Amino acid sequence: MSKLWGGRFTAGTDKKVDDFNSSISFDKRLYFHDIIGSIAHAEMLGKQGVIPADAAKQICAALQEILADIHEGKVEFRIDQEDIHMNVETLLTAKIGAVGKMLHTGRSRNDQVALDIRMYLKDEIAEICNMLSDLVKTVINIAENNLDTIMPGYTHLQRAQPVTLAHHMMAYCQMFRRDTERFIACYNRANILPLGSGALAGTTYPLDREYVAERLGFDGVTENSLDGVSDRDFAIEFISAASILMMHLSRFSEELVLWSSHEFGFVEMSDTYSTGSSIMPQKKNPDVAELVRGKTGRVYGDLMGLLTVMKGLPLAYNKDMQEDKEGVFDAIDTVKMCLPVFTGMLETCKFRKDNMYKASSKGFTNATDFADYIVKNGIPFRQAHAITGKLVITCISMDKGIDDLSLDEIREICKSELEDGQDPMEIFKDDLFDAITVEACVEGRSLIGGPAPATEKKAIEKASKWLSEIKIPQAYAEWFEF
Ligand code: ARG
Repeated sequence: MSKLWGGRFTAGTDKKVDDFNSSISFDKRLYFHDIIGSIAHAEMLGKQGVIPADAAKQICAALQEILADIHEGKVEFRIDQEDIHMNVETLLTAKIGAVGKMLHTGRSRNDQVALDIRMYLKDEIAEICNMLSDLVKTVINIAENNLDTIMPGYTHLQRAQPVTLAHHMMAYCQMFRRDTERFIACYNRANILPLGSGALAGTTYPLDREYVAERLGFDGVTENSLDGVSDRDFAIEFISAASILMMHLSRFSEELVLWSSHEFGFVEMSDTYSTGSSIMPQKKNPDVAELVRGKTGRVYGDLMGLLTVMKGLPLAYNKDMQEDKEGVFDAIDTVKMCLPVFTGMLETCKFRKDNMYKASSKGFTNATDFADYIVKNGIPFRQAHAITGKLVITCISMDKGIDDLSLDEIREICKSELEDGQDPMEIFKDDLFDAITVEACVEGRSLIGGPAPATEKKAIEKASKWLSEIKIPQAYAEWFEF
């Protein structure tokens, strides 16, 4: 079958080139957006009198039939028709003959493909944001139920200061909120109509670009035709938002892997989200978390791939840009596969509060609070730090925690670090032990951003409000009228 662009050619394309050049095997997933984009274009051509109104109507009706045919699996796309755009146009002319040949007036595949990816991405971003809000809900839920669940907080993976499970969860909540906002910002940047840029230099037809933009739910039209066809920033931004999200999921996964180990024992994953070993009968492996962590790498790869494709391209369109799609699709598929399974895994985790508590009360997580206590009794912080250091090293040699000692023992050990006029009886008083329980450590950190339960409750309320107010865009299928 001859090509839509075959006019100036005398010989057909080599089969190898057809296979090499063709993108239909992957860009067929743009069919819905390609077709509704064409419907809007045809309507506008008719409205502007660029093509007869009747012809526009006929084209739109036929495009709808083609859409239904594709939905029902009745269409077989053709490699020799290169991509989704030419396949749809070929189907159209096969259906309505010469009238179908009017559709491509004032349009190029270059602005068409830019339009399709933007529309497709808009829908996918909406879906991803919905999945993200399910995850945020789950995280908030766990936090609400664990305001008092004390666990060690870590730096350098060494026990540092006590926090709560709620506080740890709400840290991820912040990340996922930023992720959602990043996707929405990316949506807004993608939400500009490139159609009307033509191949590169616009077109001489009196198109109504604003009409098409409104019909397809775009916020505006691109302001430079060269940029309109050659800009893939929005796709790069999308994969970069996806990469950051995956990085967050990967860090969370890493923690769940650690926490589910015998060494930590903080979490027991549900049987429904774990796997066994083919040889070691005792094993229960956190495969889901590991796979999410592993799949992060491929999304980074998608990002690097597209950045590299774009970096040397002169304006405007170059065929290299056909390579944008598979990376974008892969990033979408990966994120959409990871989010629900990660949420399910998290939802079904059982947190071993007893082990968390035990771990938080060992490892001198209250040492800072011990130092702060003596600061409150008049010792400069740097000296308090040294005194506490001395106490800790002595405790280690005795294999004891600070709170295993008596007040007198503490006074005795710390005495050598005090200066003239600093009275141990005034510095280490009866209320010392109450001030350094892990509960007091957490309770005392009540500044905005801290883990104190009352503060956390407010943070949770704020996040819940955010969740109820966040505006996730609607997908085309929900609002587009034929
Ligand atoms: N399949 C092409 C792509 O994905 C569509 C645009 C082709 N334009 C062209 N002038 N060959 O980029």
